Amino acid sequence: QTIPATLISGDGIGPEIMSSVTTVMKALDAPFVWEHHAAGMGALEAEGTPLPESTLDSLRRTGLALKGPLTTPVGTGFRSINVTLRQQFGLYANLRPTKTIVPGGRFENVDLVVVRENIEGLYAAMEHYLPVGDDPEAVAYGAGFNTRAECNRIVRFAFEYAVANNRKKVTLVHKANILKILSGIFLHEGRRVAAEYEGRIAVEERIVDACAMELVIKPENYDVIVTTNLFGDILSDLAAGLVGGLGMAPGANIGEKVAVFEAVHGSAPDIAGKGVANPLALMMAGSMMLAHVGRQDLSGRLDMAIEQVVTSGGIRTRDLGGTATTQDVTQALLQAIQ
Ligand code: NAI
Ligand code: MG
Repeated sequence: QTIPATLISGDGIGPEIMSSVTTVMKALDAPFVWEHHAAGMGALEAEGTPLPESTLDSLRRTGLALKGPLTTPVGTGFRSINVTLRQQFGLYANLRPTKTIVPGGRFENVDLVVVRENIEGLYAAMEHYLPVGDDPEAVAYGAGFNTRAECNRIVRFAFEYAVANNRKKVTLVHKANILKILSGIFLHEGRRVAAEYEGRIAVEERIVDACAMELVIKPENYDVIVTTNLFGDILSDLAAGLVGGLGMAPGANIGEKVAVFEAVHGSAPDIAGKGVANPLALMMAGSMMLAHVGRQDLSGRLDMAIEQVVTSGGIRTRDLGGTATTQDVTQALLQAIQ
C-alpha cells in the first residue's frame, strides 16, 4: 500500500540532506509516494511567494509532509512559514524526542520526549507598547491565552503517545505557582486528564525552572514531558543540547488532519553546498513519519541503522566531531539497512 506525501526540500542544506533521506527511504522500500513542492527562499525566488498555494493544496490532500529547513526571507514582510503552517493546519502538538545515540557525550541514557503545545500560550503575539509621558514606548505589554480545550487536548496527546509508545511516565511542566490562571488552567486540566490514565501511566508535576535544572543534572528522570508553548520551546532545545545538538534533533508538528515532520535545525547557510551537513536529524524525522503511518517495522529498522552507523560504524559528520560527508553517512546507512 502506497501513501502520498508532500516533500519540501527546503533551503540551504535542505536539498543535500533531503536527498540522503529519500535515498535511504527507497532502500527501505518505504510506502511514500513523494509530491515535490517548494517553500521558503527558493519558492520566493521561483514563484514570488515563500509559501505557494500549490504547496498548501498538496498538504491539504496528503495530510503528511517531510519538510527541509526553510530560510525565513528577511525584510520582505513575510511571516515565518513554520508559524503560518502551524496555524493554517492547526498543528497543535510539537513532538520532540531526545535520545542518546552518539556515545561519549555527557549523558549515556537520555531517552525523553517533549510534547509542546504549539498554537496558544505566550506566542499568541498579543503585544504592544504603552506610552508614558512623552515616551510612546515606555512600557511593553504582552498577553497570552491557554484554553481549557487545548490544554486537555495536548495533555491527552501526551498520555496517548505514552500508551502507544510504551512509555511509563508523563511529567506536567508548569508555572502555576506564579501564573495562577494562565499556567494554572494547564495544570488543573492536566491533572484531570492524568486521572483517566491512573494505574497505566505514572504522572509527575514540575515547576518549569526546577525542571530545567533537573534536566541538566539528571535527564534520565524524565520520560514524557508535556507543557505549554514557551516552556516547551525552551526545554526542547535544552534537551537537544544534552545529546549532541541540532544535527541529532528531529521534530514533528501534528494536527487532527495534517502532520509535518522536520529536523529542528535551520538551513545552515554557513555549510550549505559543501556536502558536509549531518542528515541524521531529518532522517530521524523520517523515521517518526514512518511510525506515524503505522510502519513501526520500517521505523525500527531505520533507527537501528542510524544507531549502528554512529556507534560501531563511527561514521560521524563534523558537527559530531567526525570527518564524514553527507554522502558517507548515506552510504553507511544503506549498508546497515541491508
Ligand atoms: P541553523 O540551525 O541553520 O544553524 C546553526 C548552526 O548549526 C550552524 O553553524 C550550522 O552550520 C549548524 N547546523 C545546523 N544544522 C546542521 C546539520 N544538519 N549538520 C551540521 N551542522 C548543522 O540556524 P540559523 O543559522 O540560526 O538559521 C539559518 C536559517 O534557517 C535562518 O533563515 C532561519 O530562519 C532558518 N531556520 C529554519 C528552521 C526551520 O525551517 N525549521 C528552524 C531554524 C532556523
Ligand atoms: Mg525554538
